[in-house]
Amino acid sequence: MTRVLSCVQPTGDVHLGNYLGAFRNWVSGQHEKDVFHGIVDLHALTVTEVPGVVGATTIDLAAILFAIGLDPDVATVFVQSHVPEHSQLSWVMECTVSYGELSRMTQFKDKTAKRENKFISAGLFTYPALQAADILLYDANEVPVGDDQRQHVEITRDIAIRFNHRFGETLVVPEAVIPAAGARVMDLQNPTSKMSKSDSTGAGCVMMLDDPAAIMKKFKRAVTDSESEVRYDVEAKPGVSGLLDILAAATGQSPQEAAEGYTQYGSLKVDTGEAVVAMLEPIQTRYRELIDDKAELARLLAVGAERARTVASVTLQRAYDAIGLLPA
Ligand code: TRP
Repeated sequence: MTRVLSCVQPTGDVHLGNYLGAFRNWVSGQHEKDVFHGIVDLHALTVTEVPGVVGATTIDLAAILFAIGLDPDVATVFVQSHVPEHSQLSWVMECTVSYGELSRMTQFKDKTAKRENKFISAGLFTYPALQAADILLYDANEVPVGDDQRQHVEITRDIAIRFNHRFGETLVVPEAVIPAAGARVMDLQNPTSKMSKSDSTGAGCVMMLDDPAAIMKKFKRAVTDSESEVRYDVEAKPGVSGLLDILAAATGQSPQEAAEGYTQYGSLKVDTGEAVVAMLEPIQTRYRELIDDKAELARLLAVGAERARTVASVTLQRAYDAIGLLPA
């Protein structure tokens, strides 16, 4: 069966765009392929300076991923730092990638530019080596990634090919694949931009754990336009179309179907808000059960880590053996 690996950094609150645009597809995809989902807390260390934060965002994200329906019996959901092979293979990857290759990574240049006057860790520079380890440890065939991560999968392929050339066929060379199309979720206040926590004033971004009143308020205040016709037209009517995209995703229709019957923006906003509240309600209930039961969450993550290690430890040993490290 095709092995798929996707990872996410525990960077804090998950929003509707993360869910409808990506995570929901993880749930439907879990029955089609052999999926591994890592919560990559070690990657978050590249920019972490305060104790306790990463652990808290990690457990929160884990609770959300199980709450939306990732089934621990089917999908392997694990925390990166629970699987020490990631750090171990990462060093091997650092010694297989060149300084020049790492220097050419556009994300490194972007991230360091944004951290003007702030501490720039060496981890920010060597990050692609850890990501290569994440991918190669699982013999992943497919890595679904957006454009911003393609260069990281490319460098992983280059590293795997170089390793195999030096030390013999050892690592599976992965393929970057385009993720199954998720819903288009735009910021409610700034509907020509994707919903995003950092770019938004807050009012335009619906968090997965917002309570119903907060959700309704955000939808009622959504930016539309000065006309009154409800029609799906992304260019001419970005605000209305953004609402229709969300209503459609929440109710399983196309945006054009979702538009039918509406003559006013007010009722479209209320109905979209209510559809989102209804969609999130069972997820929030399950989330609260899980976050209040840390022992159960720990058990689920231990199952994931155990399954992940079963695969990762074999690959690490294969790599050590190929290099010819002295057996322990
Ligand atoms: N670098 C990715 C991001 O910032 C996260 C990530 C780490 C990842 N390891 C991965 C993604 C392995 C895919 C596969 O979003």
